[in-house]
Amino acid sequence: MLVLGVESSCDETAAAVLADGRRILSNVVASQDALHAPYGGVVPELASRRHLEVIVPVVETALADAGVGLSDLDGIAVTQGPGLVGSLLVGCSLAKSLAYVHDKPLVGVNHLEGHIYAAFLTDDPPVHPFLALVVSGGHTALYHARAPLAYALVGQTRDDAAGEAFDKVAKLLGLGFPGGPAIERAAKTGDPKAITFPLAQMTDGASDFSFSGLKTSASLYVKRHAPLGEGQVADIAASFQAAVVKMLVRKTVKAALRTGVKRVVLTGGVAANGPLRAGLAAEAAEHGITLHVPPPRLCTDNAAMITAAGTARLEAGERAPLGMNALPNMELAPAPTAGHPPIAPASRAPLQ
Ligand code: KG4
Ligand code: ZN
Repeated sequence: MLVLGVESSCDETAAAVLADGRRILSNVVASQDALHAPYGGVVPELASRRHLEVIVPVVETALADAGVGLSDLDGIAVTQGPGLVGSLLVGCSLAKSLAYVHDKPLVGVNHLEGHIYAAFLTDDPPVHPFLALVVSGGHTALYHARAPLAYALVGQTRDDAAGEAFDKVAKLLGLGFPGGPAIERAAKTGDPKAITFPLAQMTDGASDFSFSGLKTSASLYVKRHAPLGEGQVADIAASFQAAVVKMLVRKTVKAALRTGVKRVVLTGGVAANGPLRAGLAAEAAEHGITLHVPPPRLCTDNAAMITAAGTARLEAGERAPLGMNALPNMELAPAPTAGHPPIAPASRAPLQ
């Protein structure tokens, strides 16, 4: 099955062609980092305008790189949500037009499911059931993937996403955008034990995350010690990064032990972070948990992951009508309701 996938949920315009949902024939990503860098964050209006300018050449390049024409395709997949509505609309409109004109099956993909499917593009794909820690600029959530295309939410951030915290602290330190890679670079020469930042504890025992307290204490530290020398910036970056890694690793391993799920997938833009990959790998190994982490280029936003998830849904017989629309708040799995543990059968609703 030959599928074209399109991704435009945030600030990357991307298209890919996959064979059988596994073999990447092409994977084109046009980054808007330089466009948004002067503002220290993504400017939605600028993002959608840039998507509009580059999406056709990006799709044409993906088809040319794969050596296929539109008529060869068995289906078209597109990110339907969650994301910036103006950005999502550009990808959805293009995918719908192509599906209509070339009479191809269309499927809408949840961006977070795409991140999870990046793990299926490796030589060692995960086997269900597994837990998936999705850490990106917009989301930080832990899902239980019970069976193909069926997810339950185990925990999520109660405030900022991990990537958002990286971006905000990087801005505070004058390290530029996107903040995650900048903090990781600066942290290389810093001491991760230099500053002890507080980690939020969930008094109700939930597998939820919280990063806003950490961000606030980094902000207070910066204000108190300004102006900062290069060594201090490196120490703050290293200590902050270590605290984020500790929170993510601790919660994920605890949830795996609590639920008895022996496999974990780490994915999303923040999963490109070296210390996080190494930290979770070490802790997982210690507890007999098998860890699956896609290579960094498949962890950050790309269309190969959307195409992989879209192919699975097309193979399951799913079709989106041409009236489908962008869903900026699209959910992968409903939040567990009070009284129902996250992995109780009652809350194991498949995504439809
Ligand atoms: O998944 P992604 O590419 O886009 C969203 O869906 O949000 O994630 C982007 C986020 C940004 O916040 C960026 O700072 C963060 O991922 N990120 C990193 C690293 N590379 C990207 N965070 C920490 N370390 C990295 N190496
Ligand atoms: Zn993403």
